[in-house]
Amino acid sequence: MAKDTLSVTDNRTGRQYEIPITDGTIPAPELRKIKTSTEDFGLMSYDPAYLNTASCRSKITFIDGDRGILEYRGYPIDQLAEHCTYLDVAYLLLFGELPSPDQKTSWTRQITTHTIVHENIKKFVDGFQHDAHPMGMFLSTVGALSTFYPDAKNIFSEDIRRRQIHRLIAKVPTIAAYAYRHSIGMPYVLPDNDLSFPGNFLNMLFKMTELKYKPSPVLERALDVLFILHADHEQNCSTSAMRAIGSSHADPYSSLAGAAAALYGPLHGGANEQVLRMLALIGSKDRILEFITDVKQGKGKLMGFGHRVYKNYDPRAKILKNMAHEVFEVCGRNPLIDIAVELERIALQDDYFVSRKLYPNVDFYSGLIYQAMGFPVDMFPVLFAIPRTAGWLAQWEEMLLDPEQKITRPRQVFIGPKRRDLTIAKVSTSKATTIV
Ligand code: CMC
Repeated sequence: MAKDTLSVTDNRTGRQYEIPITDGTIPAPELRKIKTSTEDFGLMSYDPAYLNTASCRSKITFIDGDRGILEYRGYPIDQLAEHCTYLDVAYLLLFGELPSPDQKTSWTRQITTHTIVHENIKKFVDGFQHDAHPMGMFLSTVGALSTFYPDAKNIFSEDIRRRQIHRLIAKVPTIAAYAYRHSIGMPYVLPDNDLSFPGNFLNMLFKMTELKYKPSPVLERALDVLFILHADHEQNCSTSAMRAIGSSHADPYSSLAGAAAALYGPLHGGANEQVLRMLALIGSKDRILEFITDVKQGKGKLMGFGHRVYKNYDPRAKILKNMAHEVFEVCGRNPLIDIAVELERIALQDDYFVSRKLYPNVDFYSGLIYQAMGFPVDMFPVLFAIPRTAGWLAQWEEMLLDPEQKITRPRQVFIGPKRRDLTIAKVSTSKATTIV
């Protein structure tokens, strides 16, 4: 009968080893048994950027990159986007099941009653330059929250963890809105508890002199769907940062600030901002071929294309491409959509992109929708960070409670100089010692 093991022959010694296979993986520590002598450290696997290394067992999000499948806790992303709210999905990610009606009421109440931030946070945001990038303001303010809630350090108390989860999910839109209002020199707007999660966010961003802000139901729903699509994406760069920082038992605010910093980069959550800048730079459909030629010659990337895991159309991009038109009906057509659609068409017929399996990812169309809704381009990464907070927290808690997890600490292959001694020359006149 076939065995779930891997037989390895070390050709350096001729010795044979049998390594167990579980869930399609081999435990890397087993490799350490493969040695050339008793003094030998043992074999390690070398995997920069973790191209083929599973860092955890997770029950939260499933991706089949070859087939373009994304599921949260088993539910396909398109079904969740059609039938749920972001708060339902945040609950699902965190607790494993969609909320019952009673659970939903209590969960929504918890989030709604934690949206206000301490008054000192306003002073903190005030301290930023008027042209500070909103993502820089966002991530440093989230980090600063840890100083307001010192109890958050008690990460092994379930009650205390729960409270920080409520606070973080509720307060990230408020901080994001403050960052935006600061950048345009407008007064901060208090949360409105009568509104939905996305409706209140629109209120805090866009309310002017009216007594009560009434969000457009189409935009409110569109934002909710965008939040659902961005809520989690298994072990991406920022989630891995959240888990790595959390593995040292840092408080969740500090861990989340680090995760947001990882998201900020243009290869990750900052890509949506770069897509819009790229489309604006291309400027018209007749310049697309020239742009594609430049990309193929290595002069820059086609932003919003390609993915470490998806080697097929990103299912989130599919949903967003359709949703863009609904939003444009309310807000007016974003003229850059024509360039985007043509760029996609040309790229998907070009052997460079086809052979490398480069398809549009979530960032390709999201920015066009955000821009049509009135968001400035530099707010886009912040709009990604708000819903990803639920995913980061779900993954952080799963890591903390996983008995197999320890502090993250990869190995290295040292390729620097071997041990050498300093050459010390005495300089008699100055009594100084010179190290050569
Ligand atoms: N434009 C042009 N060429 C590309 C692109 C692109 N967007 N993406 C990958 N390639 C090429 C790359 O140059 C390489 O070519 P070669 O084999 O000739 O060296 C090949 O495709 C494989 O790419 P890779 O860099 O090894 O792939 P990766 O898994 O390390 O990187 C990625 C994934 C997302 C960082 C990359 O595709 C990229 O930089 N895309 C643009 C930025 C972007 O849209 N990021 C958002 C990702 S989705 C949202 C999120 O979850 O963060």
